Amino acid sequence: MLDAASRARDFPSLAGTVYLNSAAEGIPPLAVDEALQRYVQDKRLGMDGRLLHARVHAEARRLAAAMIGLDPDDVAICSCSSEAFNLASLALALRGGEEVVVTDLDFPSSVTPFLQGSCPAEVRVWRSREGRLHDADLLPLLSPRTRLVSLPAVSFYNGFRADVPGVADVVHRHSPALLAVDVTQALGRIPLDRESGALAGADLVVSSTHKWILGPHGGGIVGVPPHRRAEWTVPAGGWFNLHDAFGPDRFESVRHLTGAASFAVGMPNYPALYGIRAALEYVAGVGIAAIDRHARPLVLECLAGLRTLGVDLLSPANPACLAGILAFRHPRAESVHARLHAGGIHVMHHAGRLRVAIHGYTTAADVETFLRELAAALAAKD
Ligand SMILES: Cc1ncc(COP(=O)(O)O)c(C=O)c1O
Repeated sequence: MLDAASRARDFPSLAGTVYLNSAAEGIPPLAVDEALQRYVQDKRLGMDGRLLHARVHAEARRLAAAMIGLDPDDVAICSCSSEAFNLASLALALRGGEEVVVTDLDFPSSVTPFLQGSCPAEVRVWRSREGRLHDADLLPLLSPRTRLVSLPAVSFYNGFRADVPGVADVVHRHSPALLAVDVTQALGRIPLDRESGALAGADLVVSSTHKWILGPHGGGIVGVPPHRRAEWTVPAGGWFNLHDAFGPDRFESVRHLTGAASFAVGMPNYPALYGIRAALEYVAGVGIAAIDRHARPLVLECLAGLRTLGVDLLSPANPACLAGILAFRHPRAESVHARLHAGGIHVMHHAGRLRVAIHGYTTAADVETFLRELAAALAAKD
């Protein structure tokens, strides 16, 4: 796990700040800077650089695959989660009369592809109660017409951590639907590998790369388990996603790669991939289980502190339903946020809600300072 020396060495920008906003932007370790510079050097080799780019790409897929419990061939990296979900919608080729279930804890990227005029399916919303999604509320939304259920592994909104295998079981027993899981707010923070079983039953796994895995923007990790390859084959134009894109019959027909490979349609975003590879290697080196062991007590301490401050907690009360995020509302959220930020304390402020994110580089002193300064901000007059 990170100690004071490795934290200071690898994350120099954290000195003098209390950074509790990794759910918006993770802080890349210095290894990511070096990787981005290496990209430019390799790019200067022209076409010869492509071999080096391809190696980095393969390594990024290998590392990402291990973290989500899949084989490298079952993982692709497109440009962002939104792209992945739009392509997923294409792959489903939804028809009138079919249904998609989304949750009110989803980020817009996994909801809005299904609200487009070009999508004839009906969208049904699985609503949370007391900050949690209850399986009992999902059941009546499922039917033989349900094609997809979208579920965040951890909600960007309030940090609710879903029981993915449990939901998968309900979905698969009561409908023919596929379960798509957005792991953006979980990957790099809590174990999702094969051993953890945390993603058992997921039929599609999607993640952005600029949050808890500490990578740059520009990546959308897509995982498709092998038995779902045929169902997740994106009928998009491109070339990277095609068999024999330059073959003699290229003006008559296209043959798509299947599964995850069909989500990477054109030239990969190599600059991002260099950074993503370095970030994944760094996080894997620290160890996600170690990150969780370090950060979980800090989450519980922060939760206990927030409870004493009388804020309106949006996060679920049960610690088993939490990962790295806590969120709360306050009528003076804007001025509270401004005061914290001016004091070098970084939390997320959006629509009257404040969100705290606790990662491997968060310290006990960070949480203590945050709670003390939050108490002062709540007591202060505007
Ligand atoms: C759960 C979740 N999914 C996706 C995203 C972002 O999607 P994209 O990679 O398309 O920007 C975010 C936050 O920005 C998020 O919190």
